[in-house]
Amino acid sequence: MGLLITSKLLDMLKLMAQMEIKSKRLMSLLKKRGYIQPAFELYGGVGGLYDYGPLGGRLRRNVNKIWLNHWIALGNIVEIDSPTVTPEEVLKASGHIGAFNDFASECKSCNSIFRSDHLLEGLHPNPDSLNEKELEIEFNNNNVPCPSCKKNNWDLAKPLNLMFSTTIGASKNGRRAYMRPETAQGMFLQFPSIHRHFRGKLPFGAVQIGKGYRNEISPRQGIIRLREFNMAELEYFIDPEEDIIHDFNKWKDIELRLIPENIQGSPVEIKSNIADAVKNGMIRHQTVGWFMIKTFDLMMDLGLNPDLVRFRQHEKNEMAHYATDCWDLEIFGSYGWTECVGIAHRGCYDLQAHDQAASSNELKAWREFEKEKIIEKTICSPVQSIIGPTFKEHSKQISNELLNLEKMPESFPFEIKCGESIFLIEEKMIEIKNIKSIERGEWYTPHVIEPAFGIDRIIWHILEHSYNEIDKKDDENYALLSLNESIAPINFAIYPLFEKDGLKEKAEEILNSLREIKGINIYYDGSKSIGRRYARGDEVGVPFAITVDPQTISDGTITLRYRDSQKQERISILKLLEFASKFI
Ligand code: ATP
Ligand code: GLY
Repeated sequence: MGLLITSKLLDMLKLMAQMEIKSKRLMSLLKKRGYIQPAFELYGGVGGLYDYGPLGGRLRRNVNKIWLNHWIALGNIVEIDSPTVTPEEVLKASGHIGAFNDFASECKSCNSIFRSDHLLEGLHPNPDSLNEKELEIEFNNNNVPCPSCKKNNWDLAKPLNLMFSTTIGASKNGRRAYMRPETAQGMFLQFPSIHRHFRGKLPFGAVQIGKGYRNEISPRQGIIRLREFNMAELEYFIDPEEDIIHDFNKWKDIELRLIPENIQGSPVEIKSNIADAVKNGMIRHQTVGWFMIKTFDLMMDLGLNPDLVRFRQHEKNEMAHYATDCWDLEIFGSYGWTECVGIAHRGCYDLQAHDQAASSNELKAWREFEKEKIIEKTICSPVQSIIGPTFKEHSKQISNELLNLEKMPESFPFEIKCGESIFLIEEKMIEIKNIKSIERGEWYTPHVIEPAFGIDRIIWHILEHSYNEIDKKDDENYALLSLNESIAPINFAIYPLFEKDGLKEKAEEILNSLREIKGINIYYDGSKSIGRRYARGDEVGVPFAITVDPQTISDGTITLRYRDSQKQERISILKLLEFASKFI
C-alpha cells in the first residue's frame, strides 16, 4: 500500500477543462443522434427531466442487462419489482419523511435557490457533511457569490424534503403517498418472500432496477442530477454473527484509489488492493469490500476508464440516516468527481424499522445454535381472557411486548409502548412465570449491505470516457464513440459500396440473414460517400461496419471494418454470421 500525493491535481483540472469543452460537443451530438435530450422541450423543458431517444433507450437497456447479469451470476441474488408510488407509512418507518433532506439556500437579492453544499464546493473540503449551524458559519466566513446574480446575500440554509408527494385514490380521504426516492424499500418489504425463496439460508440478496424520484433543488447538470432517474439497487442480507469470508485473490493485483474518511479534502489518496484495505480495517466490513471490488469490475465491463474511477468513504456526519459505513464510487468527468454508486452498510436499520411498524416477526431470520440450550427464565405471561377483550385489535401486539419484556414490572399499573401508543397494564392482566425451555436457535434481524447505482450518471460517464475527437479534417471534428461492443446500441452497420449492379439487393440479403439472429441490431445505410457513412456510424459508436462490394457478389465475402482501429478484413458471409452470433 502506498500514499499517493496527487501532484496530478493540476493535470486533473486541465483534464476537466478539456472534458468540459468536449462535453458540450458530445451533448449536442447525443441530442442530434437520439441518445439523450431534455424532456418536454416542445413546451420549454422541465429542469431535471430527460428523455432517452432511440439510441439512448437501447444503450440504457444494454447497461441494465449487464448490471443485472453481473449480480444474478453470484447465484444467490434474485430480481424483484415493486411499485414506485409508496404509502406514507412506509417512508415514515424508513426515516425518509423526517430525514431525507438537502439544505437549500435562497439568494435574498434574486430569489434563486441552490443546494447549500453545492455553493460551498471549493470553499470547504466536504460541504455535504455540514449541519445547519456549520453551514451558517461557512456562509458567514466566506464570500459565496450567487451563481445567478453574483451577489453574496444569502438567507439561512433550510432543510427541504426531496420527495414528491401524491395521493392514492380520488376521494378527499385518499391515502397520502410519495413517489419512491429509492428502490430499496421494495426489497425490504419483500424480505419475507425472498427469505422463503432461499429457504431461510442467508446470505442472499435481491436487486431491482427502476425509477427513483427526488425533487432536486437546482438540477443543472444534465443527466447527472435528475428529478426522475434510473436506479439499480442491490440489498444483500447477511447474518451479522456469521463470518463471511470472501476470496479477494482474483483482484490481488488491482490497486484501487481509495479516500478514507480521515484524509478527505487533502490532496492525497491511498492506493491499495481490496484485501489489504479490508485487513487493515480501512474498509470496516468484508462484504462491503467484496461489493466494492465487484462494483469496480462491473464498471470495467461497462467500459469506464479505470484511472478515472475512485472510492471515497463517507465521513460520519455525512452518512445517510441509515448507514454505518459508506463508500461512494466516484467517476471523473466534465463535472469533476461525481458519486455514481453508494455502497452502504445499512445495518439492521430498515428491517427493524418496518418490523417495529408492523410489530411482527416477519422481517427476521432464524439462526440455529450449534448446540441446543436449556434456558431458565422469568416471563411476564399475558392473561389472554383479560388482555383480549380489553385491548381488542391491539391485544396481539401487547401480548408480544409483554412476553418479550426483559425486566419484570415492579409496580402496577405499568405502561407498555406499542408503536406510538401507550397502554396501561394492570396486575390481573399478567402472570409472572418461571419457565424452562430448550432453545435450538433464535430469531434475529439480518444486516444489509447495499450497493446503490445511479444508471444515468454511469451512462453519462461511459459516454464521456468513450468519446474522442480525432483527426481534425477541414476544421471539423471526427467524432468517435468507442462504446464497448456489449453495450453499443447498434451492433452492425451495412453499407453497399454503391446502390447498383445488385449490391443494394446483396446488402439487404445479408442484412436479413443477420436480423434472423435474435438480439442483433443492424442498420442499412446507402446514402452519400462510404467515408461519410463510416463517420456517421463511428460517431454513434457502431463497433462494426460491413461493406458490400462487387467482390461480394463474385466470391461471397464482405469487408468487416473495426470502429476503434479502423482496420478492415475480408471474411466470408458465413464467418460474419458466426461472428455476429456472439452478440446474442
Ligand atoms: P448526491 O449527493 O449527488 O445528491 P446522493 O448521495 O443523494 O447523491 P444516493 O442517495 O446515494 O445519492 O443515491 C444512490 C445513487 O443514485 C447515487 O450514487 C447516484 O448515482 C444516483 N442519484 C442520486 N440522486 C440522483 C439524481 N438526482 N439524479 C441522477 N442520479 C442520482
Ligand atoms: N438506496 C440508497 C439511496 O437511495 O441513497
